[in-house]
Order: sequence, then structure tokens, then C-alpha cells
Amino acid sequence: MIMMDVDNKFFNMGVLIVATLVVAKLISVLIMPKSKKRLPPVVKTWPLIGGLVRFMKGPIVMIREEYPKLGSVFTLNLANRKITFLIGPEVSAHFFKASESDLSQQEVYQFNVPTFGPGVVFDVDYSVRQEQFRFFTESLRVNKLKGYVDQMVSEAEDYFSKWGDSGEVDLKYELEHLIILTASRCLLGREVRDKLFADVSALFHDLDNGMLPISVIFPYLPIPAHKRRDRARKKLSEIFTNIIASRKDAGKSENDMLQCFIDSKYKDGRPTTESEVTGLLIAALFAGQHTSSITSTWTGAYLLKHKQHLSAVLEEQKNLMQKHGSKVDHDILSEMDTLYRSIKEALRLHPPLIMLLRSSHSDFSVTTRDGKEYDIPKGHIVATSPAFANRLPHIFKDPDSYDPDRFAIGREEDKAAGAFSYISFGGGRHGCLGEPFAYLQIKAIWSHLLRNFEFELISPFPEIDWNAMVVGVKGKVMVRYKRRVLSVN
Ligand code: HEM
Repeated sequence: MIMMDVDNKFFNMGVLIVATLVVAKLISVLIMPKSKKRLPPVVKTWPLIGGLVRFMKGPIVMIREEYPKLGSVFTLNLANRKITFLIGPEVSAHFFKASESDLSQQEVYQFNVPTFGPGVVFDVDYSVRQEQFRFFTESLRVNKLKGYVDQMVSEAEDYFSKWGDSGEVDLKYELEHLIILTASRCLLGREVRDKLFADVSALFHDLDNGMLPISVIFPYLPIPAHKRRDRARKKLSEIFTNIIASRKDAGKSENDMLQCFIDSKYKDGRPTTESEVTGLLIAALFAGQHTSSITSTWTGAYLLKHKQHLSAVLEEQKNLMQKHGSKVDHDILSEMDTLYRSIKEALRLHPPLIMLLRSSHSDFSVTTRDGKEYDIPKGHIVATSPAFANRLPHIFKDPDSYDPDRFAIGREEDKAAGAFSYISFGGGRHGCLGEPFAYLQIKAIWSHLLRNFEFELISPFPEIDWNAMVVGVKGKVMVRYKRRVLSVN
């Protein structure tokens, strides 16, 4: 009897709680003001893992399908996160300009930490990271670049002097190789370039292979590729510690990024540690090596395909040779405007970094071209895509065609809709610090090739390798070459 009484009491209490909740919900729906948030439209997917499946099939495929339906701002539910895409300069300005406390990189780029190592870039607070980016900026100033250019030019001369009078090569492999050598010389320093090149490039290869799509989600998963990455990172640290010690002991100073990082000091006067120097050099190589070699390959492929643009860059080389003879230095490379536009256009069509990400920490609003306003709540991941935005037809005329003249004075399509119309190098607060270095390096290589060889593309025009972390060229790019000296008359 007592038991029955207790059961009844619980039952009645249960009914009361449920009834209260239902009434409360009804009141909130009927009386409370509706949320005023104008949330972006959401990509339709299957429940739970549908968003992940769409994303894994390729973010660009997904954006291509959704942009015409949903417009320039939309959200994808990705497992337990929401990614909001901001496509085009009209809606992406906040992405590029926001302060770190509003939109941060640290969480979304965390997966780099085991590769770059402890104490640098995404492993440190923004205030320290800002100082480390100042070290990058100082190491890439014009006075430093002038010295790097001489090294770039002599690396290119040396490399191509080993080619025969004629032959067939995989241009992609050759340019990749030359860029590793040049980056070693300018960034990692003479010791690595002259004595330790094979060892260090093998270790970088292991670091590279340790950055897989799965590493973005699980950077510490104990898989063989991650174990090799960790071993390589440790070994690189030992190598650079020795090099730094021997430079300091000998009181020697070199003109390379390594030296700049050794000499860098934080605001409080603290010098960089050996481990930080190693980490910053790895970050520089990761930022600049594949991106530049991919861009130099696309530039070559497009120039060889489009004879009128090839003639234009050859003409420019002839004019510069008439003016300066065979000399090539920083200032002469800076005069190569036609070549610059040819590279920039290859990079518009094929930005190697196809998606840029931030994590949002405060609500913000955007207005689309057609006047729709959306509120993006804090907690969303925010994304923009150079690969998609660089081909928007309201900014770039006939966007899929290779047309370097679109950047010439009078057209300047890269500025058509303001600062964020062309975003292969990002922009705003976190715009690429290595852009001038990259252009100089690619110009140094192509001016040498144009002046000394004739080429013919003998494999089909290359396709895009969407599966790579840094999106590049699929397969080989075979060319036939013949040595010649460009006639200036
Ligand atoms: C064609 C070559 C290159 C391309 C396409 C490229 C592209 C980019 C992009 C898109 C960003 C912005 C990332 C974001 O907003 O999340 C970036 C940032 C950066 N890049 Fe490059 N990059 C190139 C070459 C280089 C080189 C050669 C270096 C250094 C030697 C370099 C160093 C950096 C650094 C340090 C940042 C971070 C800037 C910051 O967060 O404040 N890049 N790059």
C-alpha cells in the first residue's frame, strides 16, 4: 500500500513536470519574441554525417553546387560544427580584416603544430605569433630580398646548365627540385644547401608526408606517417641546433632567413631559441615551397599553350636584354611586368591554397551583392575559397580563360570589387608575407628558361590534383626543350 502511494506520487510529479515543460515551451513560442537572427541558408544534406560526406567529396564541388542555389553566404552542418562560407569580395571583407579576438586562426590551423613544432606560430598566443610574423616580415624586406635574388638566379643557372642541348623532361619534377634547392639556399642557409641537402630534404619529405587530410582532424593519431613526421621533426631540430651553435661560435653571419631568425628578438629583448628558429624555418618552407613550385609549373603550362602570351613574355625579355644585357637582379626582375601578370593569372586560375578558415568568437553580419543581410553567430567556423572566388564571373571577365592582360592598366580586374577581389595570397590582416619572395623566385626561373630554351608541351594540358593538401598539378608535365640564346634583334 505504501509502495503504491509512493509510485502514485512519482507519477503525479512526472505528469506535473512534463505539463510544466509543455506549457513553458508553448508560452515561449507564442509570447516570447522570435530570434531576430537572419541566419544564412543551410546546405541540405542527409542527417548526421551528410555534411561531412559532402565536404569530403571536395569542398569546391560542394561550393559549385550550392552557390547557384543558396548564394554567396551559406552554412554547412559538419558533424558537430557549422561552417559558414563567405564567397566573394562583397561578403568576405570581415573574414580578412577582423581582429584575432573576433575571427581567429589558432583553432582551425592547430593541425600544423606537430609539424612546425612547439613554441611557434599556431602553438603560441596571438601576441607571440604576431612577433614571430614580424620576424618573417623583417627577413623578407627588400634589402634582404635583393640578396636572395642573386642566390635564386645562380641556383637557376647552375641547375639548367646540367640539362643537355635538347631533350624531354617532366617540367613539374624539374621545377619542384629547383625550388627545393633555392629555398634551401635562401631560407635554410648555406650549410644545409652545401653539405646537408640530401639529409634535410629527406627529412622535409617525411614532414610533408605526415600532413594528410586525416591529420587535419586527428593530428596526433599514432599512424606510421605521423610517427615518421615526429622523428623527422626531432632530427631537424638537432641539425639546426648544431648549425646555429656553429654559426654563433664562429661569429659568422650569412644572408639568409636562418640568420634573420637567429638575430630576431622579442619586444622584451629575449632572443629566439634554437627550437623556435627551427620551427619558423619549417613554417616558411611549408608556406612557400609547394605553393611556388606549383605556380611555376602552371605558369609554364599556360605560356606553352597560349602562343600569343608566350610571345609577349619573350618580347619583354628581349627588351630587358637590350637594356641591361644578360644581367638579372632584383630591380630587373621587378621590371618584368608581363611575366608578373602571366604568373598572377596562372595563380588566379590555380591558387594552391583553395580554402582559408577562421573560427568565429563573436557574432557578425554581412550584406550580399543583392542586398540580403545575414547574421553569422559566434561558434561557427568561417571559410572562404580562393579557388572559387577567383573565378567569379561578375569580377573576372570570361573567368575560366587564361588572360594575363586582365590585370593590365585600364582593366585591373583584380581590383574590380575592392581589395578582396583576387585572393590567391589571402589578404588583409593575414595576407601572405612571402608574396614578393614567391614572385621573384618564379620570375628568376622563368626569365632564365625563356632566355635560354625553346619549349614544346608534349603531354596533354595538365589537370588539377584536388586531392593534395596544397592543390597542384596532376601527373607529369612533359616538355621537349632545345637550348638557344634569345636573339635581341
Ligand atoms: C605562390 C606562392 C604562395 C602562395 C599562393 C601563398 C598563399 C598564402 C595565403 C593564401 C595565405 C593566407 C592564409 C590565410 O589567410 O589563412 C598566406 C599566408 C602566409 N604566407 Fe604565403 N603563399 C605563397 C608563398 C609564400 C612564401 C614564399 C612564404 C615565405 C617564404 C610565405 C609565407 C607566408 C606566411 C608567413 C603567411 C602567414 C601570414 C599571417 O598569417 O599573418 N608564403 N600565403
